[in-house]
Amino acid sequence: MHEKLYNVLIKRAFIIPTSEIYNSIAGFYDYGPIGASIKNRIISLWREIFLKEDGFLEIDGSTILPEIALKASGHVDNFNDPLVECLSCKRRFRADHLIKEALQVDASHMSIDELTKTLSESGLQCPECGGKLSEVKPFNMMFSTYVGAVGGTASYMRPETAQNIFMCFNKIFNTYGAKLPMGIGQVGRSYRNEISPRQALIRVREFTQMELEYFFDPDNEGESLEKVKDTVVPLQTRQQQRDGKDFDPVSLGDAYANGDIPLKTMAYFMAKEKRLLNSVGITNFRMRYLMEDETPHYSGGNYDVEIPTKFGWVEVMSLAYRTNYDLARHKEFSGKNLEVTVESKKVLPHVIEPSIGLDRLFWCALEHAYVEDKERGWDWLNLPPRIAPYDVYVLPLMKKDGLGEKAMELSKDLMVMFDIYYNESGSIGKRYAKADEIGVPYCITVDYDTLQNNTVTVRFRNDAKQVRVPIDQLCGRLGQWKYNSVVEASKSGLDIIMG
Ligand code: GLY
Repeated sequence: MHEKLYNVLIKRAFIIPTSEIYNSIAGFYDYGPIGASIKNRIISLWREIFLKEDGFLEIDGSTILPEIALKASGHVDNFNDPLVECLSCKRRFRADHLIKEALQVDASHMSIDELTKTLSESGLQCPECGGKLSEVKPFNMMFSTYVGAVGGTASYMRPETAQNIFMCFNKIFNTYGAKLPMGIGQVGRSYRNEISPRQALIRVREFTQMELEYFFDPDNEGESLEKVKDTVVPLQTRQQQRDGKDFDPVSLGDAYANGDIPLKTMAYFMAKEKRLLNSVGITNFRMRYLMEDETPHYSGGNYDVEIPTKFGWVEVMSLAYRTNYDLARHKEFSGKNLEVTVESKKVLPHVIEPSIGLDRLFWCALEHAYVEDKERGWDWLNLPPRIAPYDVYVLPLMKKDGLGEKAMELSKDLMVMFDIYYNESGSIGKRYAKADEIGVPYCITVDYDTLQNNTVTVRFRNDAKQVRVPIDQLCGRLGQWKYNSVVEASKSGLDIIMG
């Protein structure tokens, strides 16, 4: 765990354990103002890269779904984690996690029987009380509920946003031009009743997903590879995993030619996943081609995007070739013909799904941005300006002598173009420290000279340097700095320039 980061997030209320005043239930967090702002800005970037650039559509679906829909998707029968219980203290554990922690064995692909056998052969006991452990049982991870007052309809909190999109697809297809390919995305909450939520925002029970379902005719995939064939990504092939080797940088064109990417259009979305990661400041990651035994039977091949953190490698994004499995199952269970007609041909479209866990991405972006700075005297967040909680802090040197009013007036003017936070309390040093700590890239200070000559001091977060700028040039200069930093980040994915 990155304790320092977690402490800042709690101290500055980026995140607040939900219902903390009543002793929170593990696995739920509220986002405070700074956290919510960063989260919203990551969503804006996702919308730009995954939806707007390609003219894709967005929906906003309900989070409670009827049982039949999740029977069709397979979640009612198969969405299970392996549960083991202490027969003495009744505490419950995820069997594969327990084995990993106690025996350092990767048990993530073991069947229920294999897990039970491994536990009993190792003689492992309850880590809390030393009691005997039960056999391993499948535990369905969905939260169930009943809708309506009398009897009620069995329903579940959705475990992924994707299912709303599959169920809406036909309607949207016919309303929006009846053409393939068609991309439909969604940002929204999903729910999984994790047996042991932990690792801050990494394993939570309510979380936000950003998912795109890209519907296409498998006979007419298009030439999307051409646009990204020279993009280099850190790829871990199945062969490398079999050989116990790590990932290598490879161009998407070569990876496709080598048979390491099942579809050209998957390469297109891998390039987008890389761009989103770079845009939030993450350059260190790998794209791992899931092994055959990790891939669902209906899938044409899946990738996970994994990021190194203090918890180890964490899966933050996935890319799945879901074939037409979901539409076929909803067709079967609903009795509705979900085929579409494209140029007189009937098609049940295939789907590629780039899916992103926003809370995990948020955590990883912050972990990568965290700078320990003994020289400065406080730690700070090197967040790319586009995902900083605010563009600019506006600070009067003092509240008195008209400086507060002048700074407030400036804030209102700048608000038209930028996200501004006005802060007049505490010493100027402490306010700079707070701005750095939450990752604000620019501080503007209104001082006595401002009243004389209409100039302000702009302080840059990354090097703490200051420049004097006339107020009438401020919008242009700030805009240019912000723009430069975005261009630079998207070019190299490495350096974020500040001014
Ligand atoms: N839709 C993919 C997932 O939720 O994991």
